Amino acid sequence: MAALLHGLAGSMCKMCGASAWRRGNEGVVANDAVADNVTRVISGRRPGPGFRAAEAEGGWRMADAVRIGMIGCGGIARPHVRGWKSIPTKARIVAGADVDEGSRQWLRSEVSEVRLHDGFEALIADPHVDAVDICLPHHLHCAAILAAAQAGKHILCEKPLCLTLAEAQEISEAVERSGITFMAAHNHLMWSGVQEAARIVRDGQLGAPIALRTLDCGRTPVRPGQPRAQPGWRADRARAGGGELLDTGYHPVYTMLFLAQSAPTEVTAMAGRYHLTDLPAEDTAHVLIRFADGAIGNILTTWAFRMPTGNPLFQVVCADGEVFGRDHTIAVRQGDAAPVERTLPAVDSIAAEVAHFADCVRLGQRPLQTHIEATMALRVILAAYRSIAEGITVALPR
Ligand SMILES: NC(=O)c1ccc[n+]([C@@H]2O[C@H](COP(=O)([O-])OP(=O)(O)OC[C@H]3O[C@@H](n4cnc5c(N)ncnc54)[C@H](O)[C@@H]3O)[C@@H](O)[C@H]2O)c1
Repeated sequence: MAALLHGLAGSMCKMCGASAWRRGNEGVVANDAVADNVTRVISGRRPGPGFRAAEAEGGWRMADAVRIGMIGCGGIARPHVRGWKSIPTKARIVAGADVDEGSRQWLRSEVSEVRLHDGFEALIADPHVDAVDICLPHHLHCAAILAAAQAGKHILCEKPLCLTLAEAQEISEAVERSGITFMAAHNHLMWSGVQEAARIVRDGQLGAPIALRTLDCGRTPVRPGQPRAQPGWRADRARAGGGELLDTGYHPVYTMLFLAQSAPTEVTAMAGRYHLTDLPAEDTAHVLIRFADGAIGNILTTWAFRMPTGNPLFQVVCADGEVFGRDHTIAVRQGDAAPVERTLPAVDSIAAEVAHFADCVRLGQRPLQTHIEATMALRVILAAYRSIAEGITVALPR
């Protein structure tokens, strides 16, 4: 059985005492069998609008499975739907929306009783839906989040949160005003290797972090104008909001912020286009982040080439050792000793993500990452774009 993975970012850092900006995470459940054992209900949190609640153990929990509406039934919706179907006692898909008929019919082939809508507005107005799973092109995230929050629907939203900090501010106000549960779909944090690395760094056994590195590299097999990338929104800067860095690059950015023990203060970046030459933006980015505790992080993210040989996906070098690894493996070097490698339970990161969201909605808990952490990742990425455009190091507000 997969392990219960503990939330790692909620407590104060033992080394620098500086994680107040990333507060309140309560824990991640790796799979449904483990999630069934989670019965603790956070007291003092009342469910938001549209919540069909029952009292339990001094708190509140949703009486039935959460009724999910899929918004966008394209590429990433596939593993999301597979995840929802694996937790029928906690959540079930009751509705789906897509402007594309083929995508709507695909959802019906997966969930026979599903109510289909041809736009997200109609799905959000559907009274049979408790929570929405937003898998839309980037430029539609903000409008869909605002409409769903206004309607009192809980929200799981794919990265990026939105395109600008002004949109992020609007989202923050709408989510906090509505009292709904908002979870950022930062699925790489569900990997057991990332969870364990963050626990080790936070526990301080390796000393203070000095140098961090995260990577997400892969050669994209299609070009933006080709059919698999339909409707071609990634080739349109207005709809994509940026290039690889705002898209796949979101993963190594939020992962680095999760592993670091302090707030980012400065960003320097460079970018290039090597493979997707008709993309109106970068397909590769290198980002350096300075943190308040003095540590420096280094991100490499690309659609232009495979993972460079010999690299871990994440690495934190500390004063007295280092921890590094991939999704389900981890290695720890203490002092001058040889690194000790461990294999951890394999986790389907998207199935774990949707199960965690269902738990949070049903139990009234704060998700591992919300609009707050998603805004911080966006802030870093937008600072990186400014650094690339102006050739400067960009200071982040304290
Ligand atoms: N976590 C990950 O690893 C991962 C991987 C891929 C994509 N994503 C994210 O998922 C999101 C979607 O990406 P994708 O690759 O699935 O894109 P996609 O183009 O394959 O799917 C988007 C779907 O939204 C539909 N759509 C467009 N406008 C709509 C509207 N107004 N109402 C309803 N449906 C509408 C499209 O018809 C399409 O089916 C993006 O935010 C992307 O960054 C995450």
